[in-house]
Amino acid sequence: MTSVPPPTRPIPSTAIDPFALESLQDPFAADGAVRELGPVVHIAEHDYYAVTRFTEIRKGLRDWRTFSSTDRPFYEDSAFRPRIVLFEEPPAHTRTKSAIMDVLGPRNLPWLEEYFRKEAGALLDRVLDGDVVDVDGYRDLAVAYVLKVFPDVIGMPEDGRELLLKFGSAGLNAFGPPSELRERKLAAGAEAVAWVERNIGRESLAEGGLGAQLYAMADEGRISEQEARDLVKTVFAAGFDTSTSGIASMFRAFGDHPGEWRKLRERPDLVAPAWEESIRFYPPNRFGGRWAPGGATVAGHRIPAGAKILMMWLGASRDPREFDDPDRFVIDREMPHGHLSFGFGLHTCAGNLVARLEATTLLRSMAERIESVESAGEPRTATNYQAFGHEHVPLRLRRAAPRS
Ligand code: HEM
Repeated sequence: MTSVPPPTRPIPSTAIDPFALESLQDPFAADGAVRELGPVVHIAEHDYYAVTRFTEIRKGLRDWRTFSSTDRPFYEDSAFRPRIVLFEEPPAHTRTKSAIMDVLGPRNLPWLEEYFRKEAGALLDRVLDGDVVDVDGYRDLAVAYVLKVFPDVIGMPEDGRELLLKFGSAGLNAFGPPSELRERKLAAGAEAVAWVERNIGRESLAEGGLGAQLYAMADEGRISEQEARDLVKTVFAAGFDTSTSGIASMFRAFGDHPGEWRKLRERPDLVAPAWEESIRFYPPNRFGGRWAPGGATVAGHRIPAGAKILMMWLGASRDPREFDDPDRFVIDREMPHGHLSFGFGLHTCAGNLVARLEATTLLRSMAERIESVESAGEPRTATNYQAFGHEHVPLRLRRAAPRS
C-alpha cells in the first residue's frame, strides 16, 4: 500500500509589500497585517514567503538545515556585508562563530563594563548641564555614546568615526529590492566603506582591543588572516547601527511612558529587563532572510523547494499569541520564551552580550542620575529595509537630587 502524504493547508497570498515606502514608514502596521493573515504568507509582489508569528519563527530558526542562511531574498554581495558567519553553516560557521564569540564574550566583559561605565558617566556629566535639559536621545545620547565606546573597544582611530553612521545604514539597506532608496543609501555609504577598509587592517588597530584579538586568533591558526579581517568588518556592519538604534528607541519608549521611568527609579533591578522589553517593543533588526533548499513545512503549510523566506521577527515581537497586550511598553513584563530581537538558534547574535552590556550600563547610569524622562516633541523614525530605528528622539530630562 502506498502512503498518502498528509494534506497541506493553502498559503494565503498578500499584495502587501514589506519593502514599499509606506511599509518602511510603519513596519509595525505592515508586518502586523501580514502576521494576522497566517503563520506563513506568500508575498505576491516579490514571490517569496514570510514566516510571521513568534512560535513558528522560533521553531524555524532552530532548524538551520531546512531554513538555510546561505542565500537570502534580495541579498547581493556588497562591500558592506562580508559573506562570513551569518552566511555560513557548520562546519565553517562553527569555527568563525566560536572565534568571534570568544572575543565578544566573558573574557572581555569585565573590562568592557568598567570602560562603558566610565564613558557613560562622562557623557552624562556633559549632557546634564542644568536641572532640566532638552536633548535628542538619538544624537546626544545614543550616537554620542556608541560612537565613542564601540570603536574604542575595537581599537579604531578617532578620526572619521562619524562615517560609521552611514556605513551601518547602508549595510542594513543592502538587504532589499533594487530601488532609488537603496542606491541612495549605498552611495551615501561609499565614503564610509573606504574608511572602514582603511582602518580594519591589523596595523591600524590598537593593541589589546577586540580587533587585535581577532588577528591574534589568525596568528594562532584558529582562523585565516582574511577571516580575521572579515570578522572585524562584520562587527562594524552588524554591531554599530543596531546598538545605536536600540538605545535611541529605548529612550523613545521611556519618553512616551514616563510611568515606566518612575518604576525603574524605584526598582533599579529592572534595568536589564527594561532593555529586553525595549528591544522587544522596538526591535532594531526587522527580519532575517533564509531559503528552503528542500522546501519546508510551517504549521501544516508547505513552502516549495528553493523558496526565499523572510523571518519577520519585528512583527512577531507584537504577536498577541505570545505577548499579553503586546503594544504596551512594560518594563517588568513576563517573557517566558524571551524575544527574537537577537535572532534565535544557530545564528543568534554573536554580539548580544556586548550589546546588552553597552545598553544596560548607560541605562543604569541614567537611572541613577535622572529623575524623569519625558517626550519633548515628535520623534522621527529612519527609513530602512532591514533595520528599525529613530533618527530624532526629543526628550526632556530632569536631573535627580544626589542619593544619600
Ligand atoms: C542591539 C544590538 C543588536 C541587535 C538587535 C542585533 C541583532 C541581531 C540579529 C537579529 C541577528 C540574527 C540575524 C539572522 O539570524 O539572520 C544578529 C546576528 C549577528 N550579530 Fe547582532 N545585533 C546587535 C548587536 C551586535 C553587535 C554589537 C555585534 C558585534 C559586536 C553583533 C554581531 C552579530 C553577528 C556577527 C551576527 C551573526 C551571527 C551568526 O550568524 O551566527 N551584533 N544580530
